[in-house]
Amino acid sequence: MQGEGNGRSTALTEHVAEYEQDIERILISGEQIQDRIRELGERITEDYRGKDLLLVGVLKGAFVVMADLSRHIRLPLQFDFMAVSSYGASTKSSGVVRILKDLDLDLEGRDVLLVEDIVDSGLTLQYLLKNLRTRRPASLEVCALFQKPDVQEVEVDVRYRGFDIPPVFVVGYGLDYDERYRNLPYLATLHPRVYGGSQGP
Ligand code: IMP
Ligand code: MG
Repeated sequence: MQGEGNGRSTALTEHVAEYEQDIERILISGEQIQDRIRELGERITEDYRGKDLLLVGVLKGAFVVMADLSRHIRLPLQFDFMAVSSYGASTKSSGVVRILKDLDLDLEGRDVLLVEDIVDSGLTLQYLLKNLRTRRPASLEVCALFQKPDVQEVEVDVRYRGFDIPPVFVVGYGLDYDERYRNLPYLATLHPRVYGGSQGP
């Protein structure tokens, strides 16, 4: 299953044959991701024992990490989801976040763990944390699978960090370009021709 030295095995890249030609490079293999998620799940299990854990996922990207992470948290817990989108057509975050779907549950007194796919500028997360804090949870922490420390614009406290990655546009494991590639089990970059330019989306 694992690739040769460059981490790009046939089995991995052919997961979706139609996407094969679009993938430039696999940055993190599916197996590496699964190993890290298991570790994070074990840490969260220890930290939240006896607490009233509520996992809050940020749609759409976090649905994949939520599904895998939650099965490594061996505690009673509840789920909720919110959907947000940055204003504008740009894939660069503006820091202005629109809530498309709010939470169903009341956060007051709950131990809330916000699960994010990726922290890029950090602006989305900063907005969400500020918003969720006003709902008076007993505690509020963040688990983010990927982080781009080189381009992060605001300081956000991510207690459970998966991987630091370079400041490049990535897809797979929940992350999309134009709503595609979310079902790839690994994290990869796309050939620039896929998004029609040399600058990246
Ligand atoms: P931020 O507000 O700049 O931190 O951006 C956060 C959101 O932008 C993430 O939750 C993703 O939905 C999206 N995003 C940021 N970087 C990438 C990427 O490399 N690929 C796909 N989506 C991304
Ligand atoms: Mg997201």
